[in-house]
Amino acid sequence: MQPPAFARRASQLSPTLPAPAPPENIAFDSGHAFPGVLPDLTAEAATALAQYRAETLQYAPRMGLPALRAWIADYMTADGARVSADNILVTNGAKHALELVCRLLLDEGDGVVMTSPTYFSAIPIIRSFGVSFIEVGQDRAGLDVDQLAAILDRRRKDGKSQPKFIYDVPDFHNPTGVTMSAERRAVLLDVAAAHGVAVVEDSPYRKVRFEGASVPSLKALDERDVVLQLGTFSKLMAPGLRVGWVAAAPPLVARMAQLKSDAGSCPLTQRTILEFCANGRLAQHVARIQDRYRANRDRMVAAVRRELPDVSFVVPHGGYYLWLTFPDGVNADELAACANQIGVTVISGSRFFARADVAHPRNQVRVAFSHADEDEIDEGVRRLAAAYAAVANGSAATALR
Ligand SMILES: Cc1ncc(COP(=O)(O)O)c(C=O)c1O
Repeated sequence: MQPPAFARRASQLSPTLPAPAPPENIAFDSGHAFPGVLPDLTAEAATALAQYRAETLQYAPRMGLPALRAWIADYMTADGARVSADNILVTNGAKHALELVCRLLLDEGDGVVMTSPTYFSAIPIIRSFGVSFIEVGQDRAGLDVDQLAAILDRRRKDGKSQPKFIYDVPDFHNPTGVTMSAERRAVLLDVAAAHGVAVVEDSPYRKVRFEGASVPSLKALDERDVVLQLGTFSKLMAPGLRVGWVAAAPPLVARMAQLKSDAGSCPLTQRTILEFCANGRLAQHVARIQDRYRANRDRMVAAVRRELPDVSFVVPHGGYYLWLTFPDGVNADELAACANQIGVTVISGSRFFARADVAHPRNQVRVAFSHADEDEIDEGVRRLAAAYAAVANGSAATALR
């Protein structure tokens, strides 16, 4: 039978998913949690099923469990944001929250601002709405707000419509690890408000900080209600839970709730999370993950300095990733393919750029230090160095055979 006529958003997609990495590979590719710090939720899940059966095995309220929305609002308030439960919509993770923001704001042909590079999973979600991407650079202080202002001013002068939103990861950016400075955050909000553009703040790593004082979140600085903040329990507790939220003005979250096709997110998982958080276990757990990921970061930084002295990178103060820049001329796609063959899975930097029609650096790779243990980190970086040597001396094709 002929395949059905696909919608535009599906017609460009590959008919097959990429082959999974060999399971025996050391995984530097994914944002998986370190297995040893996954929380034991047995008691909380048992309570959720036994004491709250009538709630947890029924459909949930569309906006999320009221008690969880209130807990999230308190959590955000403690982080400086002025929100109440009315601002919170519970979702199936931050990516789902992003999709709902897109469903709320985007029509085909709209523009969206992304940093260059940006979180690679956000790109296909936003792209599927038929938008055009506007890329803005970043440096060690985060998104280049002068460049952003110049682009938006130019569009205003040319009578062009403004982009619908600016998407950024201001804390421990994925993939670069950069945290936006407080000054930049203030300017970003001024520029966005002046041009009537919303800001989508995706900040899953905010609490995964290893050192230094935290910078106020964009939502905490948001006096004009331009920010929609995406939150998630994926990095706070465990990615498999698939619970997150979006925090925004009540008329926005009420509309997103109506666009949510599952009606309400899973109440059993929401109640299990609430039992964990409301009983005070989260703070201790966060301290544990900070210690684990700090140790992993330190181990990977030392290994890269030792094994890959030609490579430059900024040491992140939190998050899960190092963004490695190899010498000019190194093709990261080839390097990643070779590394994958040699037994370490990394992601080529080319996947982190939203626009396919402009040139980007081709010599960057993202490596995650979150999932591997310390010995695997040493061995994985040794394998990456072997792949680099093979690519640099032209023998990668032999290694790939
Ligand atoms: C910037 C960013 N946003 C969102 C997510 C995923 O969030 P969730 O698991 O809640 O969908 C990740 C995970 O790697 C991420 O790095």
